Amino acid sequence: MRLNDKVAIVTGGARGIGEATAKLFAEQGAAVSVWDVNGDAAESVAAAINEAGGRAIGCAVDVSKKDQVDAGLARTVSELGGVHCVVNNAGITRDKSAKKMTEEAWDLVMNVNLKGTFLVCQAAINQMLEQGTGGRISNTASVAVDGNFGQANYSASKAGVVGLTRTLALECAKAGITVNAVAPGATDTPMFDAVPDDIKAAICKSIPLRRMADSREIAQVHAFLCSDEASYVTGQLIYADGGATLGV
Ligand code: NAI
Repeated sequence: MRLNDKVAIVTGGARGIGEATAKLFAEQGAAVSVWDVNGDAAESVAAAINEAGGRAIGCAVDVSKKDQVDAGLARTVSELGGVHCVVNNAGITRDKSAKKMTEEAWDLVMNVNLKGTFLVCQAAINQMLEQGTGGRISNTASVAVDGNFGQANYSASKAGVVGLTRTLALECAKAGITVNAVAPGATDTPMFDAVPDDIKAAICKSIPLRRMADSREIAQVHAFLCSDEASYVTGQLIYADGGATLGV
């Protein structure tokens, strides 16, 4: 299978796109370390993977806390034998127009989405360098990198993820570590639960494919970027948005 003999970390793996990614990676042969700030839910996803015949552990990790990231990595290496693929998926929103946005909402979103992605990349890259195996990192941006009303914090954090991705791709290429990012469009996950149905319908109408993505459709892009087939792809931002950014 595509990810046989690989150990993968998926952050924010307890639900939504992260859960779909953890399950898809396990189906494709990877041993998966499911990280989430909600440790019980991460363990449930790992248990479901193990029951289905895969191999997984669940770890309680807040990606914005370096000590928790380091502990999650140490546990992954000791229980699964190393790390070869990382999907930085954990992300949050705290939407408000910029004039009403609190400093707390700004800091929270930047800490989870941008600092968290950096901390996990840094820890994983150091481990991959120590292993001498190379590796694959797939980060999560968003169509909001191009700006989105009410999302100054989120949009800035995701644009930061793109700059981080390109910089790490340059710094890590010599070691055979590729670093890319996926920009999902509207995806049907619990993150969208609070969005009223009429707004969801308007969003779907504005998308050339006329529907939201299923989480698994985003997971498949992460799986490609973490596979051997993506060996010559690095520093790229791949939009998976049903054509939403085509401007038609
Ligand atoms: P979700 O809200 O359904 O799931 C996010 C998961 O991340 C949850 O399990 C949550 O507990 C976990 N999490 C939150 N803070 C964390 C932290 N500090 N440390 C570790 N885990 C944490 O989100 P969804 O929709 O699955 O989104 C996943 C990623 O895709 C996010 O980065 C999001 O910004 C991005 N994205 C989602 C889109 C969508 O339409 N759903 C569109 C574009 C990007």
